[in-house]
Amino acid sequence: MRFSYTSLLAIAYAGSLASAANDDFNYYRRHQQQRLQNAAVIAQQQASLGAQKDYQYHTKKTAPYFIDSWPDVNFDAGEMYSGNVPIDESDPSRSLFFVFTPSEKPTKTLTIWLNGGPGCSSMVGFFQENGNILWQPGTYHATRNPYAWSKYTNVLWVEHPVGVGFSVGKVHARDELSISQDFIGFFKNFEKLFGIENYKIYVTGESYAGRYVPYISAAMLDQKDKQYFDLSGNVIYDPCIGEFLRVGQEIPTFDFVMANRDILNLNDTFIAQLEQEHINCGYRDYIDKYMQFPPPEHQPDRGVYGYKKCDVFDKYYEAAYTVNPCFNIYHITDYCPDLGDVMGNAKGISNVEFYFNRQDVKKALHAPLDVKWRECGGPVFKGRGGPEDESDQSPDPIQGVLPQVIEATNRVLVSNADWDGLLLTNGTLLSIQNMTWNGKLGFQSPPMKDFVVNLKDKQYGTGVQGIMGRQHYERGLLWVETFQAGHEQPQYQPRAALEHLRWMLELDEDS
Ligand SMILES: *[C@@H]1O[C@H](CO)[C@@H](O)[C@H](O)[C@H]1NC(C)=O
Ligand SMILES: *[C@@H]1O[C@H](CO)[C@@H](O)[C@H](O)[C@H]1NC(C)=O
Ligand SMILES: *[C@@H]1O[C@H](CO)[C@@H](O)[C@H](O)[C@H]1NC(C)=O
Repeated sequence: MRFSYTSLLAIAYAGSLASAANDDFNYYRRHQQQRLQNAAVIAQQQASLGAQKDYQYHTKKTAPYFIDSWPDVNFDAGEMYSGNVPIDESDPSRSLFFVFTPSEKPTKTLTIWLNGGPGCSSMVGFFQENGNILWQPGTYHATRNPYAWSKYTNVLWVEHPVGVGFSVGKVHARDELSISQDFIGFFKNFEKLFGIENYKIYVTGESYAGRYVPYISAAMLDQKDKQYFDLSGNVIYDPCIGEFLRVGQEIPTFDFVMANRDILNLNDTFIAQLEQEHINCGYRDYIDKYMQFPPPEHQPDRGVYGYKKCDVFDKYYEAAYTVNPCFNIYHITDYCPDLGDVMGNAKGISNVEFYFNRQDVKKALHAPLDVKWRECGGPVFKGRGGPEDESDQSPDPIQGVLPQVIEATNRVLVSNADWDGLLLTNGTLLSIQNMTWNGKLGFQSPPMKDFVVNLKDKQYGTGVQGIMGRQHYERGLLWVETFQAGHEQPQYQPRAALEHLRWMLELDEDS
């Protein structure tokens, strides 16, 4: 039997009627009361946080970027800065927009977060994943994020590249090298502005940022300048590190559908057809041959995709939509109704005003008032085609920049979420099996070890989480498969994400 949250609340306060019910019922009621009490204590602790005002980065130069208050945020979100910083100081027409949150305890580490797209805003990360303020889909108002990454490190969210959100200027990039150079220019100007020198720099992100993160990291390494670019590690979620159209989507689709049959509820006829195509298109053989630890050899070059007939991915997607009109490919356990979302939401439909497009918000954040903010926009690349058909001509990161970053830092975490229906866990793992780093091709043995989250819940008053995935480490690369999470991992499993962050920063338990 299922008890909804509202009915539990009603029972908790109605008292006498419910007390006549069976023991199970009372168990749920007591449990819920305890959780509500815990949650109240947590809320009090949170309210007292952020009350002190000893700022870490407030200077004459940074004052114009200081955020006094956030519209419709009814708590003190702490010291924060935002605005546009030019890529090249001699040309103010091209600039990137950032939000910067100093670490709770001062530290000389800085973690950059990037969302993907190409063309999507990192404000999604800031406002719905790992920032200090959360305003998630289907919620009435913004709340403090008890799992904000600024607990451990200074965090910088950047709308990257030019053409995204409030980042303005002429778009002329044709590849990752070009936008990475833009980022390097912006970042050094940002560091000079905030007096950041000799910090360890970490780059993190998700989805298409699976390309941005290693390319920017490699560009930082190439600067050979530890004063400003001491690149020290990456965390990359549900990333486009390999050939994502075929290896990330088509090839693993059928197994993904079978593993999530109860959630997707696709009929037997459809499943039988899908399996036939999966076999006929050679996907099953591909998996049998290359999903091996260690892999036998390199996977073949992309070649022609033979779309139409072999597009099992789009077929699963359409069928899932037919059964569930509110299907969310980023988080496959969503059902109707479609939740209102101040960011605009994955399906692009929302009857809610977009927070970052409000004039009062733009003013508060020192953003350009004349720019129409959108969650995902662009274009950010000029031209067409490219190996992944995104107008981005750079080779896949597994072909060069990702191994370069792993070998230089030995501190790279690649993770994929199991309820992400867009970039599939087994596809990302297959891409790793086609990458050579620190002298060998792929992982030499399969992921078997539990990924355990020992953090207590800080929102609802429950205990430690336990086994939340599977992990595997070899030669500087940590792989984590995350259970019960969608594409935006810090949104759906914030405690797991906080553990990933701590691993990257090399922090001990509870420091
Ligand atoms: C992932 O691959 C493994 C090994 O081939 C397989 O056992 C498993 O069912 C796959 N899982 C999904 C969700 O596709
Ligand atoms: C696998 O790697 C080889 C060698 O780098 C490359 O030529 C090939 O295109 C890659 N295949 C896939 C599917 O990534
Ligand atoms: C089975 O699913 C397919 C794909 O969504 C659909 O076209 C078909 O009508 C369904 N068949 C039945 C009997 O429900």
